Amino acid sequence: MKLFIGYASTEGQTRKIARHLMDRLVDLGHSVELAALAEAGPVDLTRFDAAVLGASVHIGHYQSVLSDFAEAHADALAAMPTLLLSVSLAAAGHDAEDWRGLETILSDFTQATGWTPGQVVQVAGAYEPSKYDVFRRFVMRRIIAAKDPEADLDWDKEYTDWDDLNAQMDTWIASHAA
Ligand SMILES: Cc1cc2nc3c(=O)[nH]c(=O)nc-3n(C[C@H](O)[C@H](O)[C@H](O)COP(=O)(O)O)c2cc1C
Repeated sequence: MKLFIGYASTEGQTRKIARHLMDRLVDLGHSVELAALAEAGPVDLTRFDAAVLGASVHIGHYQSVLSDFAEAHADALAAMPTLLLSVSLAAAGHDAEDWRGLETILSDFTQATGWTPGQVVQVAGAYEPSKYDVFRRFVMRRIIAAKDPEADLDWDKEYTDWDDLNAQMDTWIASHAA
């Protein structure tokens, strides 16, 4: 299959995830075009058999570049297999309220853009104080201290479950590549 992977990433974890999935899909024999949505320019999705879009949650929203892309390509996306990678720290835990929040973010996004992803994968992201400014470091330290008492707040910590991500991606691609 020929796949388009487009992503938005503020601190870099979604970019890392998108690159990982590209490598995995290429290893499985697929052809992949990877693009940072902020730099992609015009994209003709009809050249592809399927699309994976990824973005991360910051203060309750995905990056606007994802919403803009999804809205502009809603018809093309609706006509092909699609998967949304929703990267957040809420997905790193089991807090019911956090997960309801992710559902709300997703439903706001689908309503605003007119695109409903064929599949959504909620991916745990990373805590990266080394990349935050003073304000973000302050806010994120408090959030992580509450969520993950074992975390060393001075150090970056990745919560992404790569095996689970691989398994979900493999199932999705197998169901469409047949
Ligand atoms: C300023 C800021 C706000 C964030 N807001 C949320 C949030 O509202 N909900 C959430 O689950 N995660 C939130 N996160 C965590 C990010 O989604 C997580 O760090 C993710 O890995 C970032 O991905 P990226 O590096 O691709 O941008 C926030 C992170 C930062 C730095």
